[in-house]
Amino acid sequence: MTSLANWRGHHLSATNIRHLKNADPYHGIYGGARPGEVENIGSPLCDPKDAGKLYAKEVQECINYDTNGQPAALFLEGLQGVGGLVQWADGYLEECFKIAKKNNMITICDEVQTGFGRFGSHYWGFKSQIEDEANYPDAITMAKSMGNGFPMSGIACTEELGDAFFGKLTFNTYGANPLACVVGETVMDIIEDENLSENVDKLGKMLISGMNVLKHKYEKLGDVRGRGFMIGIEIVESKETKMENLADAIKLWDLLREEGVLVGKGGFYGNCLRIQPPMCWNKEDVKFFLEVLDLCLEKIHK
Ligand SMILES: Cc1ncc(COP(=O)(O)O)c(C=O)c1O
Repeated sequence: MTSLANWRGHHLSATNIRHLKNADPYHGIYGGARPGEVENIGSPLCDPKDAGKLYAKEVQECINYDTNGQPAALFLEGLQGVGGLVQWADGYLEECFKIAKKNNMITICDEVQTGFGRFGSHYWGFKSQIEDEANYPDAITMAKSMGNGFPMSGIACTEELGDAFFGKLTFNTYGANPLACVVGETVMDIIEDENLSENVDKLGKMLISGMNVLKHKYEKLGDVRGRGFMIGIEIVESKETKMENLADAIKLWDLLREEGVLVGKGGFYGNCLRIQPPMCWNKEDVKFFLEVLDLCLEKIHK
């Protein structure tokens, strides 16, 4: 289902899947502000308040012109993970789900990376961007942090959607594995008992503001974005062209590793670095990371 061709291996997308354009304020044609912000960080084509809705118009256009008019479902992440930590233009997620519901589609939010407190301010990513509960997704998918490394996944959905499975034969060899259930419950207890969401919210803000300072210092640090402990940076040729700069992104990735910092790579071109640290980080870890990032960015600018 992914829109990233390099993750589809030898396979084409299933023919009954359509991909929407990326509602990315940094590269997208309307620019836009990120949730909670007012600055239009991309193209000044429109008022940033309107960008989310303008991008979302594509959902209806896709239904009208590229499907039989009755597609089954709309599937979106709350903030792209492997896609390069792209944060939707403000209002996009809510408007997309609203349009999908109007067209009788099932709405699904992928919380595999954004769920379980990683957003800091909200336990689930979608809740940070949807004001009207009527526009909440019908289902969320979960994995990764759900077991904190233990292999498990899950889905939560509305009663109506769940009821549709009654009387149908569904089967999953490992479904409801009792050990996985204990692990999952323990993970949720620890997130709550140790106030990890609050920790992520507080330190995430520190991280982003520290990285924004670096953005103004270094020409090749084109963009800093994200929420909580889901932060992305984009390495570009220059702030003006915003052209992907994979060579320097890889160099930076390696330099960080040599200094003891492991980050992920993302985006179609691999020029986005994904900073998604463990939720138990403390202030010292943040300070150390920012110092090391500063040092390594300096090296790729020499
Ligand atoms: C956002 C997102 N959704 C889904 C998946 C796939 O999850 P799983 O391996 O549990 O199928 C991944 C990565 O593996 C992911 O990053």
